[in-house]
Amino acid sequence: MAEGSNRTRYALVGVGNRGTTMWGRELLAGWGDYVELVGICDLNTMRAERARAMIGTAAPLYADFPQMMAELKPQLVVVCTPDDTHDDIIVEALEAGADVISEKPLTTTAEKIERIRAAEQRTGRRVDVSFNYRFAPTAARIKELIDAGAIGEVVSVDFHWYLDNQHGADYFRRWHAFRARSGSLFVHKATHHFDLLNWYLDSDPVEVKAHGELLHYGRKGPFRGERCRTCPHKARCDYYLDLSADPFLDTLYEEPSAVDGYFRDACVYREEIDIPDTMTATIRYASGVQVSYSLNTYMPVEGHHIAFNGHRGRIELRQYEKQPWEAPAVDEILLIRSFGGGVERIRVPHEPGGHYGGDNRMRDMIFRPGAQDRLRQRAGSRAGAMSVLCGIAALESATKGGACAVPALPA
Ligand SMILES: NC(=O)c1ccc[n+]([C@@H]2O[C@H](COP(=O)([O-])OP(=O)(O)OC[C@H]3O[C@@H](n4cnc5c(N)ncnc54)[C@H](O)[C@@H]3O)[C@@H](O)[C@H]2O)c1
Repeated sequence: MAEGSNRTRYALVGVGNRGTTMWGRELLAGWGDYVELVGICDLNTMRAERARAMIGTAAPLYADFPQMMAELKPQLVVVCTPDDTHDDIIVEALEAGADVISEKPLTTTAEKIERIRAAEQRTGRRVDVSFNYRFAPTAARIKELIDAGAIGEVVSVDFHWYLDNQHGADYFRRWHAFRARSGSLFVHKATHHFDLLNWYLDSDPVEVKAHGELLHYGRKGPFRGERCRTCPHKARCDYYLDLSADPFLDTLYEEPSAVDGYFRDACVYREEIDIPDTMTATIRYASGVQVSYSLNTYMPVEGHHIAFNGHRGRIELRQYEKQPWEAPAVDEILLIRSFGGGVERIRVPHEPGGHYGGDNRMRDMIFRPGAQDRLRQRAGSRAGAMSVLCGIAALESATKGGACAVPALPA
């Protein structure tokens, strides 16, 4: 397609790992017929330069977001900055007449949700939230089964998510480790999980009772330093990260850390870490469904287990994402029918790309003209907000004790 044709002119804000790969290099490689990257904004100008080279674009760089909006007037802004900064950027982008794709979580507080939703209404523009897990092939198949009534009415869900001690630890190395930046992992990470539940069940959560403790990282660690590179304990630390062994992370984060002091390998045992690493919650839905949920961040395996219990059967999935043994490249959903109905083993092959093909399917849905949204997978600000509100209620319950109501949102 010719340069300057009817491709969507988009600008990228925040070019850490996520912005550079998912919404930069990969988006242009796979969906370049539909989008044109017209500008990149990041407060860290050295990281922005490196990201631009990695993406393979000549798009101009900005450190000032309003200036970029005024000069380039993009039709779409993709927001990949830390979670607590999303609201300012989203509102500014909407006010400037652009649509927005926000990385999850949409934002971190109820007040910020309110600002974003009001700006969306006021401007008539659209906010998409990148809930790529909805697009994983297993999730789509489970949604089809539930919607088709395969187990009758769903009454409860068992949902347990395991982050391994690489991925899980990564949240404790960076800004995610602070409630004020990420809302805690009940918001930052569980937004995916609460959104999956809301979508699968087609209902809103109304009450949460949760526990959340810091039991492994932060002040619970045996020793600490500032960061791995300079740490006196590196030889005996299970979480020692040698950034120089990963050329991608090294290039994007190490030298650019001189600009803003943002270390990609900060100590997971820092005293000041204030988020839980071990979380459980029970959630009651408007439809009456009861959910038992957990999130753990230092397991020897990565993946999740989910089971839907219905009046006429049960759907089970144990999805392996990383484990110290070979797991098949096919997931198996068990559809177990009550009253002697037997079991159906539904085999779902992994697809290439992040989240077993979910990342690609989501970009297809958003960018390929004529994509059909049969399963209502494309998520907007309401879905983004609802899952964050559930996470905020969970953190509040875990902090103060007792049950917390999840505020209702208009449909
Ligand atoms: N959907 C998913 O599966 C998924 C996966 C990874 C990350 N994410 C989300 O993507 C976002 C980015 O994650 P990341 O790991 O790349 O973060 P990161 O910290 O590595 O990068 C963020 C970048 O934003 C820049 N930045 C900070 N504040 C800014 C501002 N006000 N204006 C412009 N630039 C600013 C920083 O300099 C940095 O380069 C987060 O919201 C995260 O939750 C989503």
